[in-house]
Amino acid sequence: MYKIVGKRRLNSTITWLEIEAPLVARKARPGQFIILRTDEYGERIPLTMAGHNAEKGTIDIIYQAVGKTTLLLDQFEVGDALADVVGPLGKPTEMEGLKRVAVVGGGTGNALAYPIAKGMHDAGIEVDMIAGFQTKDVVILEEEFRAGTTNLYITTDDGSYGEKGFTTDKLKALIEAGNPYDEVVAVGPPVMMKFVCQLTKKYGIKTVVSLTAYMVDGTGMCGGCRVVIGGENKFACVDGPEFDGQLVDWDELIQRNSFYKEQEKEDITHVCR
Ligand code: FES
Repeated sequence: MYKIVGKRRLNSTITWLEIEAPLVARKARPGQFIILRTDEYGERIPLTMAGHNAEKGTIDIIYQAVGKTTLLLDQFEVGDALADVVGPLGKPTEMEGLKRVAVVGGGTGNALAYPIAKGMHDAGIEVDMIAGFQTKDVVILEEEFRAGTTNLYITTDDGSYGEKGFTTDKLKALIEAGNPYDEVVAVGPPVMMKFVCQLTKKYGIKTVVSLTAYMVDGTGMCGGCRVVIGGENKFACVDGPEFDGQLVDWDELIQRNSFYKEQEKEDITHVCR
């Protein structure tokens, strides 16, 4: 069993959990994820690790309570235990040869961007973090980003905190100001990642995206997490989750991610009853 040893609310729907999982913690690296089940009958959901502590034998996850399983997970408290935690899964973030990187996070995607940005900064890479949110009330991880990156730029769509505008506006301004990025990393809603990639393509900057897809086994066997990269089928669980964003078929991904929307709504009504 995987005991919860820490729980912290980051905003009204996003929560940070620290979970005992010593074998996973020992091998975990930035960019990797786990698959968990809350109980033996639960569905398997993938969640990126926000951090890990090999000495303590713990991993951190950050989730938004929006679907059936994350709403159930939200009912767990410190001392409760999860049925399964499998990982670390996926390929770690590639950092070799990088000196200066911009990491762009959008909304909940900032929770996934955080371990990548911090991992790069810890490895000696200069990291400009652009964290975008809809409004001030949903801003998360500000302190952590400030401590774990070189420069932090917060944007809000409505201008209620940080700079008013989209992450792509800030990224464009930083590129045009002459910041010599070796790479841009984008994590957030597919539409945001698509626009980041369209922007960086114009400037010839390689852009890596972390894709969240439906997953079942997490081992490349079921095909549930198929994504199309450069015209070829790849599996986010074993070939990713990070890919060259300029090769992603975004329209196919966006359509596929909306495939189970009706079933998800139905499942949520059962949890909320
Ligand atoms: Fe089954 Fe990736 S989750 S192939």
